Amino acid sequence: MRIERHPILDIPENREKVTIYVNGEPIEAVKGEVVAAALLAAGYKTFRKTPKYHRPRGIFCAIGRCTDCALTINGVPNVRSCVTPVEDGMQIMIQDGLGTWE
Ligand code: FES
Repeated sequence: MRIERHPILDIPENREKVTIYVNGEPIEAVKGEVVAAALLAAGYKTFRKTPKYHRPRGIFCAIGRCTDCALTINGVPNVRSCVTPVEDGMQIMIQDGLGTWE
């Protein structure tokens, strides 16, 4: 689910696509968008689980302040996906707890 037309913003029709991998599954993303936008467009709502009670967390502030959108990206835990642009071939893991370095 993406915004394809907007009354004010100009959204180009032929945006360049890249492939990223979420828990090993490939999903299509648009070059230049943030990881959180790509995951939301693919239907993901849970981005991490809390360390103590494993409660789901997802997008909350969307400006890089709350860390609810933290994921493990390319082996680095606790990366805020709402302010991280996608890169082709990016490996993303939904994070359970504090995450670990690979
Ligand atoms: S949603 Fe708050 S830091 Fe990303």
